[in-house]
Amino acid sequence: MKITQWLLGLVPALDLAHGLQFPLGRAKSHKGGSEASLIQFLGPHRVEAGSVQNIRLGFSQRFAGKLHVVYGDCSINLAVEASQQVVSFLLPDSDHPDRLVWVVPSDAQDSQCLQAFHGCTIVGRSPPIAIEKAPHNPRAESQIDGDSVIWFDGVEYMRSQDSSKAVVNSVAAKDSSIAIVGAGIAGLMTSHLLSSIGIHNWHIHEASQRLGGRIRTAYLNGTSPDDYQYFDMGPMRLATKIRYTGTGEVLPFEDHRLVFSLIDTLNHLNADHHPELAMTFLPFDKITDDYGGMNSHTLQDLGEDEQQKYTEYLAHKMYRAHKQALSAGSPHWSEGAYLRQLLNPRDPMINYIADREDTPIWESLYWNKYFAASAWQSLDKGFESLPRAFAPHVADKITLGRRISGLSYNESADKVSLLWRNDPNDWDPAAEQYDYAVVAAPFSMLRAWNLPEYSELLDKAIHDLHFTQSCKVALHYRTRFWERGDKAQYRGCARVSDYPSVGDVCYPPYQVNSSGPAVVMASFTTGNMARTIAALGETNAVALAQRGMVHAHGKVANEEFTGIYEHVCWEHDEFQGGAWASPLGDQQEKFLPAIYRTEAKTIFMGEHTAYTHAWLSSAVDSAFRGTVQLLLDLGLVEEAREIVETWKARWIVL
Ligand SMILES: Cc1cc2nc3c(=O)[nH]c(=O)nc-3n(C[C@H](O)[C@H](O)[C@H](O)COP(=O)(O)OP(=O)(O)OC[C@H]3O[C@@H](n4cnc5c(N)ncnc54)[C@H](O)[C@@H]3O)c2cc1C
Ligand SMILES: *[C@@H]1O[C@H](CO)[C@@H](O)[C@H](O)[C@H]1NC(C)=O
Ligand SMILES: *[C@@H]1O[C@H](CO)[C@@H](O)[C@H](O)[C@H]1NC(C)=O
Ligand SMILES: *[C@@H]1O[C@H](CO)[C@@H](O)[C@H](O)[C@H]1NC(C)=O
Repeated sequence: MKITQWLLGLVPALDLAHGLQFPLGRAKSHKGGSEASLIQFLGPHRVEAGSVQNIRLGFSQRFAGKLHVVYGDCSINLAVEASQQVVSFLLPDSDHPDRLVWVVPSDAQDSQCLQAFHGCTIVGRSPPIAIEKAPHNPRAESQIDGDSVIWFDGVEYMRSQDSSKAVVNSVAAKDSSIAIVGAGIAGLMTSHLLSSIGIHNWHIHEASQRLGGRIRTAYLNGTSPDDYQYFDMGPMRLATKIRYTGTGEVLPFEDHRLVFSLIDTLNHLNADHHPELAMTFLPFDKITDDYGGMNSHTLQDLGEDEQQKYTEYLAHKMYRAHKQALSAGSPHWSEGAYLRQLLNPRDPMINYIADREDTPIWESLYWNKYFAASAWQSLDKGFESLPRAFAPHVADKITLGRRISGLSYNESADKVSLLWRNDPNDWDPAAEQYDYAVVAAPFSMLRAWNLPEYSELLDKAIHDLHFTQSCKVALHYRTRFWERGDKAQYRGCARVSDYPSVGDVCYPPYQVNSSGPAVVMASFTTGNMARTIAALGETNAVALAQRGMVHAHGKVANEEFTGIYEHVCWEHDEFQGGAWASPLGDQQEKFLPAIYRTEAKTIFMGEHTAYTHAWLSSAVDSAFRGTVQLLLDLGLVEEAREIVETWKARWIVL
């Protein structure tokens, strides 16, 4: 009953006024075959149940009018007899679509046909389509945490889309104009992903005069990367391995895998024309045992079984545990409450870990896990090597020094405009219209933008998502005195436990045991301590960091200090407004699903939009999710799948 009403609405009077030349009678008489007809369904003719597909379309002649596509028994005469109503659309006279977007039902029957109707007349029929049952665990091969966790469900996403978008002209879709806002790693990665599948009509708008955003290496005293007098003021390390406390087994650390894949890809891409941009790794060790997080000596307080359970759980099943907690509606429990579920309530671990943070458990659980890593890598010549490797590929398609100050949505054109002011005092902003905007600048900056009216949760996400503060002070020394003596320290971070105000001290990973100048990250603070350090101001913060070095190494630290330093507090940085997202309460659970829907032709990405946040991998993961979301919006399912498969980003399902 309902379906019939719906169909009546969709199939109005035949469009014969348009000079329909199609021999209707003939098509009708050739039931069941894939005879030459108006529309050919060119394939694929083998698809997976419960997936989203692009089916290639061909047209035997020009035609304008309303078409209706269904999936059903290959001998039906009427659209209503089909098991699935796929789409109905008005075929324009020119620029015919060349693909159908088909959300294959999970209970789709094998060997039925896609069929197109014009009114009551059948105008195209596919050969019988082989429906493969989805494997029991479609993501069994997932690399992430050895788990099959889905963070972005493209099928569900398409199911909830306006079905008028279910046919696409792929040439036109690929020519869509796309503004990328922000040249941090998420924005740069997006430009690469788009180019890789043949979308070239993008342009990056970046407020600062450089690439990389939070990836920022300070080369002190005006040196170049080759001089090895640098430290990373933002990201400085990637976890690569984790050792199970119980068995001593060392496992690869999968969470940052896409960052390593990206580095590999760029190295290949630049090999011929820019060999000087090749990136190589340097080990970055963890020095002291009392460094942050999940300490091995505390774990040893547990029985062997529990140790095993805990480390296995944290190291191996983290995404699954996180996802389960989200669906069980308990994602913002305290660590103590959650671990009481997992372990025996009297475990000393619970006392250790309970209520250590005012944030929900996941931030500190990921944090603990990552800092339990047994091996780390840094990038030779600093993490800025990474944005440098992108530079030749974006050079002609980026505007630096353009601070976007808003977006506006033109409903009648269904397009989005970027707004900015060439002079901050200009009354009227300049504007440029695009088919889509990909906003890869942090919400901590967007709060001050002029934005279109979004749904309530997206609006709240932009304005309320909590970010934390972090400060780093890098000091330049004439020699590497820290690598000498009985308390020698090499490449990696330590905590000067009796001098807590400096946070962590990190020693340079490069040119260990050489002579000549080098740089130490003499103070790396986060959260409340960083807010206090920021309030002290640069002079006091640098002096405090230098006193910490003297405290740890003696007065040689004073003798060798050149007086040259670099200092950043990210919350006060004019391009960042925060170090990284640190969702409070139920912010993550409520906000992320809202962020993962396109509104006003705008897609949001960046570290703060990923379930893990705060890491390079989070920003890179967000670029995959955002790009796939954009491609699905454009109806380019094939390209979305190509990206997911090429990069094995199997936490996205299509
Ligand atoms: C102190 C610190 C230490 C860290 N350590 C590590 C680590 O060791 N390992 C790790 O993996 N990760 C680490 N991270 C996290 C990592 O740096 C980030 O997750 C990642 O770099 C974020 O990338 P993004 O592209 O999401 O955002 P960003 O890098 O912030 O990029 C956003 C871009 O948008 C631009 N922008 C802002 N406003 C506007 C505007 N109005 N108009 C146009 N452009 C604008 C900004 O200039 C910037 O270039 C650290 C971060 C910090 C701050
Ligand atoms: C800083 O750089 C200048 C110019 O290269 C050089 O002369 C000076 O010695 C450097 N200072 C230190 C402390 O290395
Ligand atoms: C919206 O777009 C239409 C079509 O491109 C254009 O005519 C109109 O001026 C635009 N409106 C605004 C407010 O920019
Ligand atoms: C640096 O020298 C120390 C002491 O000689 C040695 O133990 C260490 O292995 C050396 N490290 C590197 C990376 O060369």
